[in-house]
Amino acid sequence: MSTQGLAFTGKWHVQNKTWTAVDAYTQEHVHPPTTSNYNVLLDALRNSRDKGLPDIATAPTVAKMYALQCKARGVRHALEFGTLGGYTSIWLATVNPGMQVTSLEINAHHKAVAQENLENAGVADRVTIRLGPALDVLPQLASEIESGAKPRLGFVYIDADKQNNWTYLDRVIALCEPGAVIYVDNIVRGGSLVDPERQDERTFGARQVVENAGKDPRVDCVVMQFVGEKGYDGMLMAVVR
Ligand SMILES: C[S@@+](CC[C@H](N)C(=O)[O-])C[C@H]1O[C@@H](n2cnc3c(N)ncnc32)[C@H](O)[C@@H]1O
Repeated sequence: MSTQGLAFTGKWHVQNKTWTAVDAYTQEHVHPPTTSNYNVLLDALRNSRDKGLPDIATAPTVAKMYALQCKARGVRHALEFGTLGGYTSIWLATVNPGMQVTSLEINAHHKAVAQENLENAGVADRVTIRLGPALDVLPQLASEIESGAKPRLGFVYIDADKQNNWTYLDRVIALCEPGAVIYVDNIVRGGSLVDPERQDERTFGARQVVENAGKDPRVDCVVMQFVGEKGYDGMLMAVVR
């Protein structure tokens, strides 16, 4: 599926007709409208837009790739930092009917809209949104995982306030099972990662997580660049040893 006119319009993001056309062509074939979660995913984007949420949900190809990684690994519990309208949570939960998803969100309006979207998608019983700054909410989740009340994490998606990328990765590793996969989104951002002119907090957050994760003996890492309907960006992938 493509976002069908609901695509991201953020200012750092370069539209490219070929990249967009390739996404549209491939998604038409690999995620056609007959797919069971097709309509609920579009509903979530539409409802989020109508309720005034920013147009910054993860690209469909990327969110589906995350959902398929969870399926390939048989993940029991996935964690997302930054829920927004629940778009990626819906992908994760609909593709993985046996998996729990926990998602952390600071904004009460985003959480409320996401809750509507999760209910519409029929996955509200397996996706729990915890409201608050992720660093405040994480200790409670950690104690539930440490006590065995919740399974250890097999998949983590870091997509919240970019200046905390490294802190989130650093803290979450201890809650993961060996072999768990952690992704940090928006690392490349049109090449700003290596642009010496870019000295903003988000870019520092991207550089810090790349530099620190690369030295960390608890994980093996790679950074992948990609293009698509949402422009040129990339993510860091870390696999827990
Ligand atoms: C890029 S959006 C997330 C998109 C979402 N992962 C998706 O795929 O649709 C970032 C979200 O992180 C939330 N956020 C920002 N700072 C946060 C923090 N300190 N703790 C938790 N959530 C935060 C924002 O309110 C926003 O909803």
